[in-house]
Amino acid sequence: MPMPPGFRLEAERLDDAAAIDALLDLAFGVARHAKRSYSYRRDVDSVAALRLVARDPAGRLVGTLRFWPIAIEGDDGAVRRSALLLGPIAVEPDLKGQGVGRALMAEGLARAAALGHDLVLLVGDLAYYGQFGFVPAAPLGFVMPGEQPDRLLCRVPGAGGAPIPGVLVSMANAH
Ligand SMILES: CC(C)(COP(=O)(O)OP(=O)(O)OC[C@H]1O[C@@H](n2cnc3c(N)ncnc32)[C@H](O)[C@@H]1OP(=O)(O)O)[C@@H](O)C(=O)NCCC(=O)NCCS
Repeated sequence: MPMPPGFRLEAERLDDAAAIDALLDLAFGVARHAKRSYSYRRDVDSVAALRLVARDPAGRLVGTLRFWPIAIEGDDGAVRRSALLLGPIAVEPDLKGQGVGRALMAEGLARAAALGHDLVLLVGDLAYYGQFGFVPAAPLGFVMPGEQPDRLLCRVPGAGGAPIPGVLVSMANAH
């Protein structure tokens, strides 16, 4: 489903920060900072080239999507490869179900792929993210300490999902 007429996606601007914080508070509650997934993001910046916003025809910010760099470590703690953690993604509650979330996801994933990022993980509902090629990550051996294993999803290189050895996911300045 395309976004409603006049809506557009574009790169986040510096002066969007306050509106994004307000939208995230609305979508996730002000207690969001206590969430485990936020602790992974503390002290690390999101990937600047992948900060996307959605605007309505009046230019008002109605959606946000950011990605964070993560490192995939082996049991020995050595970094095996870098990857992206998708999210948070949020859409203005009044506009839910009108395709803004899908548009943000499609554009964000396309931009990530264009930058060479072929492995993306997120914490969320398979029922929503499955449509974008995400599959449960735990059966592939991914672990994100402190997160529910069944909510950890990944989109692996190649549409078919190449097998990946057992790994640990941790936050790092991997880029
Ligand atoms: C999740 C979210 C980003 C989707 O944005 P959106 O613009 O409403 O999404 P779209 O319009 O593209 O798609 C909506 C569809 O996805 C479905 N959907 C939304 N969230 C879902 C979920 N958690 N599980 C299953 N389906 C979901 C809707 O039912 C709708 O289905 P329909 O088109 O068959 O009616 C938005 O609902 C939101 O901001 N939610 C609160 C924050 C959040 O939960 N973020 C995700 C966790 S990081």
